[in-house]
Amino acid sequence: KAMEIVKDFEIKCSTPISRLRQVCDAMIVEMHAGLASEGGSKLKMLISYVDSLPTGKEKGLFYALDLGGTNFRVLRLQLGGKGHGILNQQFVEVSIPPSLMTGDSSDALFDFIVAKLAKFIAQEGLDFKTTPGRQRELGFTFSFPVVQTSIASGTLLKWTKGFSINEAVGRDVVAELTKAMERHGLDMRVSALVNDTVGTLAGGRFANKDVVAAVILGTGSNAAYVERASAIPKWHGPLPRSGEMVINMEWGNFKSAHLPLSEYDLEMDADSLNPGDQIYEKVMSGMYLGEIVRRVLSWLAQEAAFFGDTVPPKLKVPFILGTPAISAMHQDTTPDLKVVTNHIKDIFEISNTSLKMRKVIVQICSIVATRGARLSAAGVLSILRKMGRDTIKEGEKHRTVIAMDGGLYEHYTKYRKCLENCLNELLGKDVFETIVLELSSDGSGIGAAILAASHSKYLGSDD
Ligand code: BG6
Ligand code: GLC
Repeated sequence: KAMEIVKDFEIKCSTPISRLRQVCDAMIVEMHAGLASEGGSKLKMLISYVDSLPTGKEKGLFYALDLGGTNFRVLRLQLGGKGHGILNQQFVEVSIPPSLMTGDSSDALFDFIVAKLAKFIAQEGLDFKTTPGRQRELGFTFSFPVVQTSIASGTLLKWTKGFSINEAVGRDVVAELTKAMERHGLDMRVSALVNDTVGTLAGGRFANKDVVAAVILGTGSNAAYVERASAIPKWHGPLPRSGEMVINMEWGNFKSAHLPLSEYDLEMDADSLNPGDQIYEKVMSGMYLGEIVRRVLSWLAQEAAFFGDTVPPKLKVPFILGTPAISAMHQDTTPDLKVVTNHIKDIFEISNTSLKMRKVIVQICSIVATRGARLSAAGVLSILRKMGRDTIKEGEKHRTVIAMDGGLYEHYTKYRKCLENCLNELLGKDVFETIVLELSSDGSGIGAAILAASHSKYLGSDD
């Protein structure tokens, strides 16, 4: 019985190349619809107001707040100007108390992050004094869907991942942050509001001029890329001088009948904070992979007495199994799968697993991770196709670099390898060789500080 359940799950999660191509075709249709009009698609294709990416000439002391990944970060960056790059960089990292992530009060969350920022600034040494008479400037990486009204303002469309504070939806997050800074007597100005994908793209471009897109595979998943402004019908502003605009796709909210979904996915979605939303994200990002595996194990325990006559109670606890555990078990190379033994014991308090059972557990991790990685490859292919980088034209030679970030991509080697292999399969070897997926750790905070520099209100004044 157990094997039947696993087999059935494997079939429901299968991602043959033909299906990935259908996913990609569907995503491209949605990309066009999202660019055509506000509300035209589940893919929001948000306009970032970033129409010129860093050049490497940015200069001065800038800060960033980075909210929305596993940890919240405060950064300080000293930029040296042309040819000098980043002279100095410091950050602190804290986790957001879960009670603030799903609380009632927007103020409580913003007060918490501003308190950390204020402490960071209070502790800085004399080396970091800003120019007298100038306000400190800040880039705010806010990794949720925001409809921007300028480079430094925008309203929250909805929360994703583990956040849900109703009051904040529809509000300008920069205004919320600014009010919290005023409450703390902190004299700082937000000069850029960016999604983490946009920050990663900017940080990636600062380091490498061939970077044209960014993908986050972490707690959540999303991508941004450089679009031709003339290909964005919903953009009614002046045509940017560069002719380009960075688009935050919010691809996590993509949904299509071609996505391979099992009953475990549907149930997880129904029980989530945001049912019906973020379906693509829910099958491939770090927040959810472990939870899908837990649901399959729980069903095996219940229906096939996989762990004995009774269902071990811990198996019923939502989100108890994190993706780092899935990654560790999936990549267990010990002959008797000792890593699996230990994780199952520590997390579920189940101590009598046989080698055969542990192999089944690894297989389930592999099914879930493989589906996620291959579906993310289909997403990457969509961007490449939209940008015309999925073929090599006669006489053309270019390198396409995609800046990658997020704990899932960084730490789950098998997931990353599977994504790369799948992209190779989809593109063919010759094209694949022109594509570089480049890890850009913490790139989004850095990118936000750099964008704060290129949108500084003091630009043009001598320093
Ligand atoms: C970080 C970025 O490096 O990656 C964050 O600076 C981003 O802004 C994060 O949200 C995503 O990773 P994770 O795994 O922490 O969700
Ligand atoms: C979620 C957010 C999105 C973010 C992504 C990665 O999908 O909605 O804005 O970029 O997670 O952190």
